[in-house]
Amino acid sequence: MKRVIFDTDIGIDDAMALLFLHYAPGVRIEAITTVSGNASIANVTRNACHVRERFGIDARIFRGASGPLGPALGQGYPDFVHGKNGLGDIQFPDPRQDAELQSAAEAIVELAEAYPGEITVVAVGRLSNLAKALDLCPRLPELLKEVVVMGGVFMRRGHQGNVSPVAEANMAGDPTAADRVLGSGLAVTIIGLDVTEETIMDEAFIDSLRAQAGEAGSFIYDITRFYFDFYESINSERSCPIHDSSAVAYLLAPEHYHVETGPTRVVCDGVAMGQTILGLHPERYASDAWLERPDCRICTTVDAAAVKKLYLDTLALAGQE
Ligand code: BDR
Ligand code: CA
Repeated sequence: MKRVIFDTDIGIDDAMALLFLHYAPGVRIEAITTVSGNASIANVTRNACHVRERFGIDARIFRGASGPLGPALGQGYPDFVHGKNGLGDIQFPDPRQDAELQSAAEAIVELAEAYPGEITVVAVGRLSNLAKALDLCPRLPELLKEVVVMGGVFMRRGHQGNVSPVAEANMAGDPTAADRVLGSGLAVTIIGLDVTEETIMDEAFIDSLRAQAGEAGSFIYDITRFYFDFYESINSERSCPIHDSSAVAYLLAPEHYHVETGPTRVVCDGVAMGQTILGLHPERYASDAWLERPDCRICTTVDAAAVKKLYLDTLALAGQE
């Protein structure tokens, strides 16, 4: 059984990823930890509580960072992508049960200590909560099994960022936290935009989900209306990349990804703030910024058809309930 903490700025693609985790056989969601990003911490925590209640997800929710630990790129929330409430502005009543009083960082440490070597954090928002958890518990790299991150963009394949030419939102939203986590010795695997953008869901795929995944399929249809409007406005096509669900897909089926390894940095200021840089040859560089940094694992290619099949097959289990 895989014990997972889902660390999320729960917007539209995060909610799709949470349902993927929830219906995946052999996964136990130990906690959902929230972080501001796609919407305010109040909104993303409310969204997490709603999705938990609506789909009977047996997991405690812990409220996390309401802002970045250091300088960050941009201000405000991407309501033009995820809607003002972060879930495509679908309406729902206030959840009956709120988050716990303990913070996200405290919960990460407590669970890591309770299950040493067993917990994987699937981190699909800014890395602020994990950076705070490292401050609380410097032994965290020995205690956590793995951290799978959706974030960054690795430029050598010619891709661009989504909040600047070189930066992706989760990294640019808290570069200080991200660089800290990537250099901490945690066993980090990163799936950046250059890979998530290879795996695309279109309306036909959403129609299949709607037909096969019961209430989960209807919910995904509803929340993706706003998301598809946004992507249509920038790409002229009604389809979206599978960002956060790619991290879940890696957890469930890492064989669908090819990985390269090396020390990885996040630029913390200046015009390239938020850029993620994998150093494949640290010993050759004039700068020592990559020397004596632990390696991260960076996904470089994906079997997109296999990932989409895995998503559909897993969500179809929801339709059998
Ligand atoms: C990432 O940023 C967030 O808006 C999405 O949920 C995803 O985690 C994509 O850059
Ligand atoms: Ca996210």
